Amino acid sequence: MIDPFGRTISYLRLSVTDRCDLRCTYCMPERMSFLPRADLLSLAELDRLAAAFIRKGVRKLRLTGGEPLVRRDFMELVAGLSRFLRSGDLDELTLTTNGTRLARHAADLARCGVRRVNVSLDSLDAATYARITRGGRVEEAIAGVDAALAAGLAVKINAVALRSDNLDDLVALAEWADARGADLTVIEVMPMGSVEADRVDQFVPLGEVRARFERRWALTDLARRTGGPARYVRTDEGGTIGFIAPLSRNFCDGCNRVRVTCTGELYLCLGQPAKADLGTPLRASADDVLLDAAIDAAIGRKPQGHDFAIGARRPPAVERHMSVTGG
Ligand code: 5AD
Ligand code: SF4
Repeated sequence: MIDPFGRTISYLRLSVTDRCDLRCTYCMPERMSFLPRADLLSLAELDRLAAAFIRKGVRKLRLTGGEPLVRRDFMELVAGLSRFLRSGDLDELTLTTNGTRLARHAADLARCGVRRVNVSLDSLDAATYARITRGGRVEEAIAGVDAALAAGLAVKINAVALRSDNLDDLVALAEWADARGADLTVIEVMPMGSVEADRVDQFVPLGEVRARFERRWALTDLARRTGGPARYVRTDEGGTIGFIAPLSRNFCDGCNRVRVTCTGELYLCLGQPAKADLGTPLRASADDVLLDAAIDAAIGRKPQGHDFAIGARRPPAVERHMSVTGG
């Protein structure tokens, strides 16, 4: 799959549910309305979709949500998809999770061939974590990280930088992650979907976060690019910290990815409304002719990039919340 800008699409992020057991203030409103369960793709449909993309050249598959581990048949999906790791058709099968249920599933994930997980954790401070997530218990996420590491999984912690919430906690989070052998990536808050909080107030340019880290460590820029949007630095104590700065630094040139929601909508860019319905061709016939054609047509109109910006009275760049497409 090659898009109109010559980018090879080899990475699919597949959302298995829009539901989440947390309500992070920057991600969703307190009273989020979720999709009726009947609208969700079935396990078999998710599997068929993933298989179609893998046949077309996807080498890396990330399962996401909402929170993927709240979906009851999630581990069955992972077990099924692990056949593509064994056959060599997939280089990596991974997930993004908030970690609350990771302790229960880490060992099974490792047995299915999952090697790495991304865990969203914005603060280690119990009160701050509870405030950001609207009621989450940080011990659960910490237990999830520990279980993942104990199961031999590599862990990347993702933290969204928030001016009035965790800005003072990020150095401690980096120290904690490094002590465990986990990487930390800090992310700028993106204007996706409406939430109660004002994104102008929430937003912190990552240069400011970096300056705080530089008071604690000497940082060296690394050339390392993982095909994703993060830029990495090494601390003088050997830790690695990533920065994802969609607003202060556009990262679209090397984009290799597309996203499919739990209802089968293919989103071609995180920050653009362009999408294609794959649920209808998927259900219209048992073979994949229509599905394949719909995917090809959609890749042919992948936008060049996002134009995120945060400003006073600016509406969100896209209407949908991050929980629709996952991170
Ligand atoms: N901006 C930036 N990151 C977000 N996430 C959720 N909503 C937003 C947003 N508006 C993050 C979560 C998680 C990942 C899935 O996306 O914290 O790390
Ligand atoms: Fe759930 Fe992740 Fe959104 Fe928080 S950021 S509410 S954990 S989907």
